[in-house]
Amino acid sequence: MLFMGAIMSTTVDPAHAAAFDSRADYTAAVERVRAAASDYYSGSNLAMDDAVYDALMARIAATEAARPEWTVEESPTETVGAGGGVVGDVPHTTPMLSLDNVFDADGLRKWAARLDRILTRPAAGYTVEPKIDGLAISARYVAGDLTQVITRGDGRAGEDVTGQARRAVGLPHRLTSPVTLEVRGEVFMTEADFALANELRTGHGEPPFAHPRSAAAGTLRAVDRAYAAPLSFFAYAVHGLDPAEHLSHSGAMAYVASLGVTTTAESGAGMPLCATIDEVVAAIDTLNEGRLTLGFGVDGAVVKADTDADRVDAGSSSRAPRWGIAFKFPADTRTTTLLSIEVQVGRTGVITPVAVLEPVQISGVTVTSATLHNFDDLERRNVRAGDTVFVRRAGDVIPEVTGAKLDERPETSELFTPPTECPRCGGEIDRSQKRWRCTRGRACGAHESLAYYTARTSMDIEGLGDKIIDLLVRAGLVTDPADLYDLDVTTLKPLDRMGDVSAGKLVASIQASKAQPLSRVVTGLGLRMTGRSMSRRLARHFTTMDALLAATIEDLQTVEGVGPERAVTIAAELVELRPIIDKLTARGVNMTEPTDPTAASTTSPSDAETAAPLRKPDGKPMTVVVTGAVPGLTRDEGNEAVERLGGKSAGSVSKRTDLVVVGEGAGSKATKAEDLGIPIMPAERFAALLTAHNDGDTVQVAALLEESLPTPA
Ligand code: IVH
Repeated sequence: MLFMGAIMSTTVDPAHAAAFDSRADYTAAVERVRAAASDYYSGSNLAMDDAVYDALMARIAATEAARPEWTVEESPTETVGAGGGVVGDVPHTTPMLSLDNVFDADGLRKWAARLDRILTRPAAGYTVEPKIDGLAISARYVAGDLTQVITRGDGRAGEDVTGQARRAVGLPHRLTSPVTLEVRGEVFMTEADFALANELRTGHGEPPFAHPRSAAAGTLRAVDRAYAAPLSFFAYAVHGLDPAEHLSHSGAMAYVASLGVTTTAESGAGMPLCATIDEVVAAIDTLNEGRLTLGFGVDGAVVKADTDADRVDAGSSSRAPRWGIAFKFPADTRTTTLLSIEVQVGRTGVITPVAVLEPVQISGVTVTSATLHNFDDLERRNVRAGDTVFVRRAGDVIPEVTGAKLDERPETSELFTPPTECPRCGGEIDRSQKRWRCTRGRACGAHESLAYYTARTSMDIEGLGDKIIDLLVRAGLVTDPADLYDLDVTTLKPLDRMGDVSAGKLVASIQASKAQPLSRVVTGLGLRMTGRSMSRRLARHFTTMDALLAATIEDLQTVEGVGPERAVTIAAELVELRPIIDKLTARGVNMTEPTDPTAASTTSPSDAETAAPLRKPDGKPMTVVVTGAVPGLTRDEGNEAVERLGGKSAGSVSKRTDLVVVGEGAGSKATKAEDLGIPIMPAERFAALLTAHNDGDTVQVAALLEESLPTPA
């Protein structure tokens, strides 16, 4: 690809985009945008990720502003569909325009200020609605009957897609009233329908769609297909109403809804009416926060002046209306390098290929690995280590690699060879289903999960070390932690010639572990992406297993340190572990957490100390200032560590500070601490404290604290 390196490093915001240095670079970029737009509008597949497209457009616009003499005819900045050349044969009654984009509140305020200048008065109010990531269509109703559906095409004329579009949910064949008008909106595919469409497609031997948008586009233009993938529709505009009625946008949409057409206002995101831009910004924040749970792709918010007078007076340019603007959210699909393909074996023995990725930011989350689903899928998607791949993060779905840029495949790339035996236990693989499985099932990972469950820092079951676990698993007596509670002296005795006494002791310590607090149960279950302190935080937050199991992704994110990616993983893990959790509950394992953090453990009095070494004797958090570098931690991680250790991190030293952690490069804060006589802990010791805390080494924690803090009176 031409100039890919230069392009990938550009910023998306046009206000900060760099103009191209040479005319050749500029025209090459125009060609790339046209080609990508052509792919996009024809729905062939995902040709370029949105962020790259937006960055290119921004640089083209910046270049044209700096060097107007270079501007090509029909520049993509002026033409709808970026001059992609897709022209259908049905002319539109009025052009189907595009929208200009902004990327932050600042851009939005500038747009609003410009609108006010054009109107020579403040706009009377705005609507905020989701920007649906699909394809624009215009649907003609004559006397209430749906007669024709046309794609946007180049904005002046589009293709007739009536046949397929009639299947879209939300676009009725007959309106509730015999009116003649044109409804415009977005045809799209929901996440659930996308999964179904790909099932249908791969079931017919065709490659899966990379993205719901390409799936919707492909389905809309499909002719003679043996299967029918579902489509949906939301209206966002209507043409052909009586202009004398001067309906506002919100009024017009309510009318369209009353005719039986689904509008963006009914998408679940609503269509708030805002009086000021501050209110608009707040409404966009709310939309952004909730968008991953809507069940379909929302790539931004669309802000529109609401009153008819404002819209008429603002008018439109040849490309876009002045009364509306798209506020783009960060893209849910990005490209990155696939570093390697690893094979993961789940608790139940399911064997999955996993993509290890060059870290990439997708809608605010750093993604470092993604699922490749299964080995069949991996082969069909044709991805290899070294490829530039599309990575998608949407809804509750764990990030997935949807395809590779084949034209950028390095020559050295090698085909991935699926495993011939279980990579964990060397056992046979059952390939009869799409999801491969180790034939040993749960027993395959039993040793690992049992050892984790019984460990001192989890359920702390004395006498149940590696050797006994091995014997129990080999004898087929135990495959999951809950089976431990069914063991009795008679079953244990024959194992390794265990005597009555030791068998009795072991049964007793297993049974005693039933009283452990929820935090230890959660730790022992070993949810991916949660260590001990995170398990504790989860247990303390929800206090019962029932509440934890009932938590939504949003609920999980209210726990400190749980971001969207972790929340999704935790939720998925809980679903997978549900049968074992139920089994543990049935055997009488305690599933509650004491609410007083100083009484966190029933069997280990030092646990409270391990949980919160930076607590004062009265249980309140110590105020800790970290200054200078802590080995192995960034500044944020240093502050996070303080909180993980039970303290409260502060930015400046005062009389109220309880402890100052001093690392290399520390300045005046260290001096001030000395002046005020505040205890100081060297950063190395703080790092060691963190490690000891993470390892559950209470003796070491106490020793390290003692060296820096005065012993409480
Ligand atoms: S209003 C004159 N509202 O985004 C154009 N567009 O980037 C009026 N889109 O072409 C468009 N959701 O295909 C509008 N709620 C929404 C939208 C929306 C998605 C699409 C539409 C438009 C494109 C512009």
